[in-house]
Amino acid sequence: MKKITIALDGFSSTGKSTLAKQIAKQLGYVYVDTGAMYRAIALYAMQNNWVNDKQLLKQDLIAALPNVQLKFVYNPTLGFAEMYLNGENVEKQIRSLEVSNQVSKIAAISEVRAKLVEQQQNMGKDKGIVMDGRDIGTVVFPDADLKLFMTADAATRAKRRYEELVAKGDDVAYDEVLKNVQERDLIDSTRTDSPLIKAEDAIAIDNSNLSKDEQYEQVMQLVQSLL
Ligand code: C5P
Repeated sequence: MKKITIALDGFSSTGKSTLAKQIAKQLGYVYVDTGAMYRAIALYAMQNNWVNDKQLLKQDLIAALPNVQLKFVYNPTLGFAEMYLNGENVEKQIRSLEVSNQVSKIAAISEVRAKLVEQQQNMGKDKGIVMDGRDIGTVVFPDADLKLFMTADAATRAKRRYEELVAKGDDVAYDEVLKNVQERDLIDSTRTDSPLIKAEDAIAIDNSNLSKDEQYEQVMQLVQSLL
């Protein structure tokens, strides 16, 4: 069967990764969560004290980029790939609110983006891939066969993210999560390099009032029409 490339972009906590995982599983495709890669670089910068609420030592991070190795390793028990930073499984750490609070500053650095985009394009060179992020349909795979752009109102998204964090045992406040979602969206959409925008040929999906199943059905119809 023909293999296609599916690019899924959109605002934070719009359920991109849940949908992307479902589609990839159904089609037997590779799923790549590019946010995990930016989060891992942010964690690396935090570990070295190059970024916090007060400072961003951009040049130190840029100089160290050749030493940063990112790898996805499939975990058969969980049914998805986990992020490894220089050989260490950092899957849990990169999902924390602390990392969420720093990641958009790191993702605005062009040198960071160039490194990750190259790795992402390599992963998708044989098609048969579902990739989610902010610039997949615009920069990473501008020729993707299917481009989706997901939105939902900020309160719905913050509620989803808050429930996810609480379910994992994180001690967070809803207002803090809402603030993070809004701040990240602002930085991501206004940065100079690869801002979060809908590709002209992307199909917009507002899932504020759609169930996960309804959304999956709609998207699978689009996918099937391309196979
Ligand atoms: O997808 P997730 O919310 O985990 O992404 C975390 C952050 O990584 C985003 O807020 C954005 O700053 C950055 N990102 C990006 N480009 C991508 C994926 C994520 O700039 N393709």
